Amino acid sequence: MCRLPVFLLVSLSVSLPAFAADIENGRKLARQCSVCHGKIGVSKDPEVPNLAGQSAFYLEKSLKDYRSGAREDRRMTLIVEPLTDEDIGDLAAWFASIEFTVVAPE
Ligand code: HEC
Repeated sequence: MCRLPVFLLVSLSVSLPAFAADIENGRKLARQCSVCHGKIGVSKDPEVPNLAGQSAFYLEKSLKDYRSGAREDRRMTLIVEPLTDEDIGDLAAWFASIEFTVVAPE
């Protein structure tokens, strides 16, 4: 009886790394995004949103929505088409890891 929880803990810790996003791979994949979203996810084009510091959950959801067609944009649809779930997770982890500071006006 008391062996079960130990077994579960071990199998969890062994399988966790498989789900961990690869931020370094995300940084490499993000080179193709920089022309529009800026080098570190801060855009200079008013039509293009900032990605730096955005939550990984929202980034991942947005990218999957463009890929499925639930959200449409001619530029984004083309970009996400070849991306795998893993690529999307890595890209989301990279942009989410960028520290973004906000200063409200006085
Ligand atoms: C050709 C320009 C262009 C490129 C390249 C590009 N994007 Fe975008 N991206 C846009 C535009 C424009 C929008 C806003 C579209 C809209 O109104 O839905 C956008 C929106 C997004 C959004 C939604 C953000 C939000 O706040 O809702 C995400 C996430 C995103 N892009 C990620 C990426 C990633 C990751 C890459 C690289 C793999 C990339 N984009 C490459 C132009 C681009």
